Amino acid sequence: MKGVVLAGGLGTRLRPLTAVTNKHLLPVYDQPMIHYPIRTLVNAGITDIIIVTGGNSAGDFLKLLGNGKAFGLKHLNYTYQEGEGGIAEALALVEHFAANDPVCVVLGDNIIEGNISSAVRSYRHQGGGAKIILKKVPDPQRFGVPELDGRRVLRIEEKPAQPKSEYAVIGIYMYDSGVYEIIRTLEPSGRGELEITDVNNAYIERDEMSWEELEGWWTDAGTFESLLHASNLVAGTGANKLELNHEAEISARV
Ligand code: G1P
Repeated sequence: MKGVVLAGGLGTRLRPLTAVTNKHLLPVYDQPMIHYPIRTLVNAGITDIIIVTGGNSAGDFLKLLGNGKAFGLKHLNYTYQEGEGGIAEALALVEHFAANDPVCVVLGDNIIEGNISSAVRSYRHQGGGAKIILKKVPDPQRFGVPELDGRRVLRIEEKPAQPKSEYAVIGIYMYDSGVYEIIRTLEPSGRGELEITDVNNAYIERDEMSWEELEGWWTDAGTFESLLHASNLVAGTGANKLELNHEAEISARV
């Protein structure tokens, strides 16, 4: 399984912080934001990773991350998203890198307390299709929201005014190599982007979607409130806790 960190976009909700730099280079407590999603992948035993960047300061990622030595990696891959085409458009850029392997995609502004080893392990046993990770939140209307029927997810709505559950679809997704065909069929949404929610709904329609609930806290960091919240959470309890690394070692061997 290969790892993808999506770190493009103009970060308009964080202007003027993002007027001259990329959102994912901003600090979250004591680390640049992008360190957290990379650690999420590495802690789950995923070490073949590509960073999709774009917008401002794209070259600074190379300067900051190099070949990923700080994460125990020997090599990192990079690609560049021109324009503001959305999460699914950014994902389309990794087709060549993924080369038919499944991918675990992490949005560059998503930070978790624990790790995703068990979700990665169960996705590996699923034998194809897709997996999303859910977390109960007080403000689901800010996110993709699933409508659930027990273990089945019936549909996901992007930022619904009347959410059909208390869950957010967090920005960590697992897909098989069928995802690129799906992306090629998508039309831009009202905000002019290819939506990851449309990708997920295509897998749901094929009955190839599973979900898991995340343990520990989760936050995005793409607004002033959530950026501050993320820093406070990391300062308070720490992120990507290392004591959970044992799980990652086990999952890497599966
Ligand atoms: C994106 C997705 C949304 C998901 C969220 C998680 O929203 O579109 O479905 O719940 O990430 O962070 P965006 O941050 O692009 O508004």
